[in-house]
Amino acid sequence: MSDKFQAIIIDNQNEKFTRDIKEINKNDLKDGNVLIKIDYSSLNYKDALILNNGGKIVRKFPFVPGIDFSGKVVESEDNKFKKDDKVILTGFRVGEAYFGGFSQYAKVDSNFLIKTPDSLDNKKAMMLGTAGFTALQCSFAIKAREDLLLGEKVSDVLVTGSTGGVGSIAIMILSKMGYNVHAVTGKRDKNDYLKNLGAKNIIDRKEFEGESKLLEKGIWDGVVDTVGGSALTKIFAQVKPNGIVAACGNAGGIKINTSVMPFIIRGVKLWGIDSSGASIKRREFLWNEADKLIDFDKIQSLTKELSFKDLLETFPKLLKGEYFGRAIVNPNK
Ligand SMILES: NC(=O)c1ccc[n+]([C@@H]2O[C@H](COP(=O)([O-])OP(=O)(O)OC[C@H]3O[C@@H](n4cnc5c(N)ncnc54)[C@H](OP(=O)(O)O)[C@@H]3O)[C@@H](O)[C@H]2O)c1
Repeated sequence: MSDKFQAIIIDNQNEKFTRDIKEINKNDLKDGNVLIKIDYSSLNYKDALILNNGGKIVRKFPFVPGIDFSGKVVESEDNKFKKDDKVILTGFRVGEAYFGGFSQYAKVDSNFLIKTPDSLDNKKAMMLGTAGFTALQCSFAIKAREDLLLGEKVSDVLVTGSTGGVGSIAIMILSKMGYNVHAVTGKRDKNDYLKNLGAKNIIDRKEFEGESKLLEKGIWDGVVDTVGGSALTKIFAQVKPNGIVAACGNAGGIKINTSVMPFIIRGVKLWGIDSSGASIKRREFLWNEADKLIDFDKIQSLTKELSFKDLLETFPKLLKGEYFGRAIVNPNK
């Protein structure tokens, strides 16, 4: 490889935040023991926050953002990985504390990487990216009601923030698992899109606003919640006995206001999802399930491939809720 390559650099000198496409040097990659040529990265909500102003997430500057990527190994000091192995990285604070994936090359700790399953390729891996991986984690948390808890079959599952990255892919996976998916959205014009992903029923986000009783009629065997905030009060009150709520997001707020009643009267389970810290074993299992549960033709039709320049123009739309679908970043475009 040439020692020089391109990356997006964010900086914050004298309180002035900047983001530029710059040429950097292999020696600038100081962390880790595996050097990777990046094929794709993806644009996630957290990336947009970081590109905007660091998002109070990145503390050291100048910095290369990008919380996920797929690529091929160039050099490895760990014999778990050899040259040309295809690898996936999501989370582990890469793109937050360690230089990330909006770059032609990255160097990371070998303990953060998994090999791309033979059933996928590196483009498909980032069409899913952190959003798809999180959706897989949430969906298997719901399925655990059947296998892990040996409970009743899951039938009805609610998904919130359903037109978002995590929500959309969760709808696809859960319907493929055979469940009736009820999609909550604030976007009235997206009914056909959600039905096409596999949603049986669309519910207006407004239905979850306002006061809730301590317990309401139990409707949901499982809930994938990407939104958090006040809607969760009502959602907990509507979960059936032993139902599981997989909570992964805060698009609607960080506070939840609830009572113990759903938990002690109905045994409702709140299952927090942290995709960034998932174990390597869990990652390998979930990524190997992806091709069985995901219709990549459908995701491809919702995915735009961005250059670095396109990325810098696109991320503000994601923050304003104006971007729709998945965005993968090709550093060589
Ligand atoms: N825990 C983890 O490991 C993990 C991993 C990935 C993402 N996340 C989090 O999961 C959440 C979703 O991520 P994403 O990538 O899917 O984001 P996204 O693509 O921006 O989607 C979020 C969706 O939430 C809904 N929404 C937005 N603002 C809302 C509001 N004020 N009240 C209620 N609903 C609102 C919208 O869907 P509708 O218009 O259809 O309602 C929006 O499309 C984010 O909070 C993200 O930080 C967590």
